[in-house]
Amino acid sequence: ADPPADDYFHQVIAADQKIEPRDAMPEAYRRTLVRQIAQHAHSEIIGMQPESNWISRAPSLKRKAILLAKVQDEAGHGLYLYAAAETLGVSREELVDKLLTGRQKYSSIFNYPTLTWADVGAIGWLVDGAAIVNQVPLCRCSYGPYARAMIRICKEESFHQRQGFEILYTLARGTAAQRELAQDAIDRWWYPSLAMFGPPDSDSTHSEQSMAWKIKRFSNDELRQRFVDMCVGQAEVLGLALPDPQLRWNPDRGGYDFTQPDFDELFQVISGDGPCNRQRLAHRRAAHDEGEWVRRAAAAYAAKSAERRAA
Ligand code: 3HC
Repeated sequence: ADPPADDYFHQVIAADQKIEPRDAMPEAYRRTLVRQIAQHAHSEIIGMQPESNWISRAPSLKRKAILLAKVQDEAGHGLYLYAAAETLGVSREELVDKLLTGRQKYSSIFNYPTLTWADVGAIGWLVDGAAIVNQVPLCRCSYGPYARAMIRICKEESFHQRQGFEILYTLARGTAAQRELAQDAIDRWWYPSLAMFGPPDSDSTHSEQSMAWKIKRFSNDELRQRFVDMCVGQAEVLGLALPDPQLRWNPDRGGYDFTQPDFDELFQVISGDGPCNRQRLAHRRAAHDEGEWVRRAAAAYAAKSAERRAA
């Protein structure tokens, strides 16, 4: 049952302080953190697939090295987040099993294909850019381990976003074909990136409670708006167009009016009917099976080391 309203948990939340793993917390608070942190971690791991699709075909050694570093960062982000989730009393094996059996989600955005090299730029600029808008407020999340994991992740995401912007900037100033490649990638990734922020506030099942617990600091629509406002100026610097004829500054709102993403498509993708859902999970299951011997060897080595220490 929830602790009384005047107890330590509610005092800490009211004072904008951090709840730590050993603190008493409502079971529902713990459960929603496990849900969100685990799905965030799954997103990082699955997100390695669309990006790594271009490692072997990067146009130069420099681009290959940068993309390798970025994909390696995503694995590290998954590690930090699984470790943060484990502080809530769940095991990584259990969370991975929930991903592989479809009982936990990962971000819709990674169910879209990376058709050309310019997609690597669009993912960096738009998807990692959206991730930063969503993740910076999470650095102030009320749960300590999650907030602290976010601080390092956000620093690395900034590198991801900058390298993506620079790829598009270079293509936009290249040949007409390269410019068209960059514009085509933005046209395909713009609306799915807006959808990353989740359903509209009116359809968000968790927002109200997550905001009361100061896990979510801004609503889905607020962050989506912030992302659009950030991208318009950057697209002008790129010299590329955002695929939204309705986009225009609204002085009354102090933000851009824009066309919302297709939320029916978002729910279809979330429920498993996106362009790459089956491919992404099949690849993850195969990689998990191939990695079984590594996990067994690491566990055997850890057991032997523990025996030697105990001897
Ligand atoms: N993809 C998949 N599922 C989504 C989603 C999306 N884009 N947006 C919402 N959902 C799901 C929610 O998980 C929830 O389902 P559940 O109850 O089974 O978990 C349901 O749709 C209702 O949505 P809500 O708005 O009520 O859910 P939340 O309050 O959890 O808000 C969220 C959704 C904004 C994604 C929030 O969970 C969040 O901020 N998560 C942490 C950030 C994150 O996971 N980012 C994913 C991208 S990771 C990434 O960007 C990697 C980088 O390197 C590119």
